[in-house]
Amino acid sequence: MAKYHLYCTECGREIEDFGQWFLQGQKCACGCARVEARYDVDYGKLNELCHGRADNLFHYFDFLPLHRREDVVTLGEGAVPMEKWEFLADYAWQKYGVKCTPVVTRSDMSGGTGTFKDQAAALGASLFKEYGVKEYCIASTGNSATAFSRYLSEAGIAFKVFMPKDVNPDTVAAIRSHGQEAIIVDGGYGAAKKAAAEYSAATGTLMTPGNIDPIRVESKRTLVFEYLRQLGRLPDVYMQAVAGGTAPIALDKGIRELNGAIDSCRLQLPRMILSQQDTCDPMVRSWEKHTSEGFPDGWEKDYVSVTPTTRISILTAANPGNYPIVGPLVRKSGGSFVRVAEESLAELARWVYREKGFIPGPASMVCIAGFLKALESGLIHDGELVSINMGEGSIRSSWFRQEVIKEI
Ligand SMILES: Cc1ncc(COP(=O)(O)O)c(C=O)c1O
Ligand SMILES: [Zn+2]
Repeated sequence: MAKYHLYCTECGREIEDFGQWFLQGQKCACGCARVEARYDVDYGKLNELCHGRADNLFHYFDFLPLHRREDVVTLGEGAVPMEKWEFLADYAWQKYGVKCTPVVTRSDMSGGTGTFKDQAAALGASLFKEYGVKEYCIASTGNSATAFSRYLSEAGIAFKVFMPKDVNPDTVAAIRSHGQEAIIVDGGYGAAKKAAAEYSAATGTLMTPGNIDPIRVESKRTLVFEYLRQLGRLPDVYMQAVAGGTAPIALDKGIRELNGAIDSCRLQLPRMILSQQDTCDPMVRSWEKHTSEGFPDGWEKDYVSVTPTTRISILTAANPGNYPIVGPLVRKSGGSFVRVAEESLAELARWVYREKGFIPGPASMVCIAGFLKALESGLIHDGELVSINMGEGSIRSSWFRQEVIKEI
C-alpha cells in the first residue's frame, strides 16, 4: 500500500507520488500547481511522536512524503525550542493589562542554516535523492536559497539561485560558500523569478513552484506536530513576518489533515496575525482595503502591489501573488495583518539582546514588532497563548547587527 499520494486542490485528481509530480512538471493535468499530500498511515503513532524528544524534522518520518530512510538528509533542522519569553508577557501586562503567554520559536537554533526555511530544504534534498534529481533551481530573496544551497550540497545536487540585484551580500556569500551558484539578476524579485523560469524551461531543470510548493508545505506543517509535542496544544494566536506565506498555508493544511484523520480531533486554526514592515507592506494594504470595503465578492483577487524601500531583502515580495490564498486563511482564522515601522526594529532588537543575550535577524524583529502592534491594536486577549514564529537569527545580516550593536 502506498504511504501517500498527492491530490490536486482544484480538481481532486490523484497524483501517485513526488516522482510522478516531478515528471509531469509539478502541475496537475488541469493546470493547477497546488497539491496536498494525503497519508495512509496510522495517526495513532503521532501521539507517541508528539511526546518527548525530537532531534530533527525526520522524527516525523512516518508523516512525511518519503519512502526511504536511507535518503534522508538532515542537519538537525526543525524541532527547535519554543521558549516562553517572560519579558514580553510582562510588557503585555504592564502596558496593556493583558495576561498572555508569548512563546517564541527559536529558528535561529535550527541546524542547517538557522532559519525556518531549513525544514523545506531538508525534505527537498531527501526527496531529490529518492528520485535521483541532479539539479534544482530557485528564485529567492534569501533564506530559502541559503537553506537549499546547504542541504543540496550535502546531498550532492547542483543548485542555481536567481536573485534580485539588491540582495543581501551575506546571503550571496553563504550560497557560494556551499559551492552553489548565485546569479544576480538586473532587477527585482519579479525579474529573478522570470530568469529562473526561463532557465528551468530551457534546460529542463526542476524549479520550485514557490510558496505553495508541496515540499515546503508538507515539511512546514510539522509545526502543528511541534506545537503538540512542545506545548501540548495549539496556540490561540499564530504570528510571523509574512512575504509569501508558506507557514500559514502549512499550518492550515496540518490542522485540516489531523481533524480529518483522527475522529476525536477538533483542532482549531489559531488566529493568524501576520506582520509586514511599512517599507514593503502589500498584504497589509490589501487587507486594509478589503476590511474597509467589507470583503466584497472576489476581494482576495483584488490585491495591491507596492514599490519596496525596505532594507530587509528577504521580506521584499512587492507583488503578493499568494494573497488570494493567505488573505482568506487569515480571515477564516479570525486574524489580521499588521504593519510595523522598519525604523523601530533596531531599538527593539537591543531590547531583545538585553533580555535574551542574542540579536534576532531583521525579519524576526518584524514578527516581534508585530506582537507589540497586535497588543496595541487590541488583537491579543487575556489568557491567550501566542506563538511568535521567529524565522532567523542575525548571522547573515551584518548590516542589521552593526546598526543594533552601535548603540548597545
Ligand atoms: C526569517 C523569515 N521570516 C519571514 C519570512 C517570510 O516567509 P514567507 O515567505 O513564507 O511568508 C522569511 C522568508 O524568507 C524569512 O526567512
Ligand atoms: Zn487538478
